[in-house]
Amino acid sequence: MEFHTTAVIGAGLMGGGIAQFFAEAGVPVLLNDMNEALVETGIDAIRERLTKSVARGKIPSRRAAEVMALITPVDNLSGLSEADFVIEAIVEDQAKKADLFGKLSHHIRPDAVLATNTSSLSVTALSEATTQPERFLGIHFFNPPTKLELVEVVPTPHTAKHVVDSACTALAACGKTPVQVKDSPGFIVNRLLLLLINEAARMVDEGVASAEDIDTAMRLAALHPAGPLTIADLIGLDTVTKILDTLGERMDATKYAPASSLTTAVNHGDLGRKSGKGFYDYTP
Ligand SMILES: NC(=O)c1ccc[n+]([C@@H]2O[C@H](COP(=O)([O-])OP(=O)(O)OC[C@H]3O[C@@H](n4cnc5c(N)ncnc54)[C@H](O)[C@@H]3O)[C@@H](O)[C@H]2O)c1
Repeated sequence: MEFHTTAVIGAGLMGGGIAQFFAEAGVPVLLNDMNEALVETGIDAIRERLTKSVARGKIPSRRAAEVMALITPVDNLSGLSEADFVIEAIVEDQAKKADLFGKLSHHIRPDAVLATNTSSLSVTALSEATTQPERFLGIHFFNPPTKLELVEVVPTPHTAKHVVDSACTALAACGKTPVQVKDSPGFIVNRLLLLLINEAARMVDEGVASAEDIDTAMRLAALHPAGPLTIADLIGLDTVTKILDTLGERMDATKYAPASSLTTAVNHGDLGRKSGKGFYDYTP
């Protein structure tokens, strides 16, 4: 199977990146958010990233224009009816996602594959908000989706095997490496990574070492390409905190209780790269 037209719901950090990834793979994308202005903000962010790549000589301007031409803004769910693959990347909130899936079933093709990009919610519980749980699965991209090759593919007990197989084939055809993982809290990567990020943030709270030195230590000794606090800023500290809360609720509240440097930063609106400040300062 190949995807012919994809739809991405939620034009934020991940949705915009996923839309750009599909367009770069040559697949037309319908990009949706709650209103026209939010869709435009998402499209502007994609255009900005491509413009930077052109300015750095990484791609010719013609390529940037071709990618942009494959992305269509859509400000209502009925505009998604052509898509054979629909992925949701809205806020990490069970009730909001379930509400969306309840409405979505009336607007998408009955044979479309429907996926959630949730990081920490139960994919099985979300599938039960759809009319066709057999065509629903988790497809967990990593930030930035245009660069990170991995996708975690998360079938539920309801997902048809042919849906899993065809999603894996189509994602591989677009250049991703899918790994399959049982629907379980944090899947593979976040279950391990969030513990590491949280412990690094606790070390900052305790004055054990600076953010820079913690990251340098993990890069040079553990051979991680980026340190845990750099990754936290990239993910977004609000998203990190929400994922920790959900992992805590679903597994072990003490083990996953967010470090105070995380909750304080979020309360100040310091969300990492996307707000200009997190463990590091990104103001120009
Ligand atoms: N940030 C990461 O590194 C990362 C990585 C993998 C997965 N995820 C998951 O991806 C999802 C999105 O995360 P994000 O970081 O892009 O968040 P974000 O806040 O940057 O973007 C969320 C977008 O969803 C939109 N939205 C909210 N409700 C909507 C609705 N009902 N219909 C349409 N659009 C709606 C918002 O307006 C916003 O533009 C979450 O489930 C998150 O757990 C995040």
